[in-house]
Amino acid sequence: MSHTKKLIEVALPLDIINDASAYDKMPGIGAHPKGIHQWWARLPLPSARAILFASLVDDPSSNPEQFPTDEAQEKERVRLFEMIRLLCQKKMHTKQNVFEEAHQEILKHCNGKLPTVLDPFAGGGSIPLEGMRLGLPVQASDLNPVAVLINKVQLEILPKFANQKPINPEIQAKMALTKWELGKGLAEDLRYYGKWINEEAKNELARFTRKPKLGIKNTMSLLGFGPEP
Ligand SMILES: C[S@@+](CC[C@H](N)C(=O)[O-])C[C@H]1O[C@@H](n2cnc3c(N)ncnc32)[C@H](O)[C@@H]1O
Repeated sequence: MSHTKKLIEVALPLDIINDASAYDKMPGIGAHPKGIHQWWARLPLPSARAILFASLVDDPSSNPEQFPTDEAQEKERVRLFEMIRLLCQKKMHTKQNVFEEAHQEILKHCNGKLPTVLDPFAGGGSIPLEGMRLGLPVQASDLNPVAVLINKVQLEILPKFANQKPINPEIQAKMALTKWELGKGLAEDLRYYGKWINEEAKNELARFTRKPKLGIKNTMSLLGFGPEP
């Protein structure tokens, strides 16, 4: 089996990947999987995305018939670096066309046969999530059930309900004209039914909890200055 050198083995635009990864770790940057559940060891999404891309596309020196000179190879590397720059932009969840272009590029380098991304230690799921967004088949697992749940939500549940309307009666009536793109519909239903479950549970459990009777008399007795409340 002949080995072709991949881009990651030769060169990477590290400054671009580092800047995007530092931004990815900042709080308050809008929609991000870290909003689903905190995972301390999460690999920044731009790093995972860039590493996957650069591991799958050939370095131009692997194709001397297509890029015979150093100049031609360097020019092609610059083109691939530009694709990585586009993959490292902010708000990538709104840039489906960039993922599609990267997917087409990867297909060319794999002779149309995409490899499966296997992450047996998936943690917060950055690698399988970005693999899926690049249109690759992915498999993820982890020893920790919390990590498994995060990956299940990201890889199975969210894609299943993406771009769908919420089903709860309240929001449907209020926001009939809203465009329910990505996970917005699912998020609305989670808020609605989460609140409902919370209220039902509170009502159900109310008989087991004693409400504190506030007031000066009770406070004094709690401090030991009077009869029991
Ligand atoms: C450094 S974290 C992975 C971080 C991940 N790349 C991310 O972006 O969030 C390592 C993961 O390996 C998992 N792990 C450790 N030993 C394992 C084992 N024997 N089998 C499966 N998972 C394991 C841990 O539970 C942890 O989630």
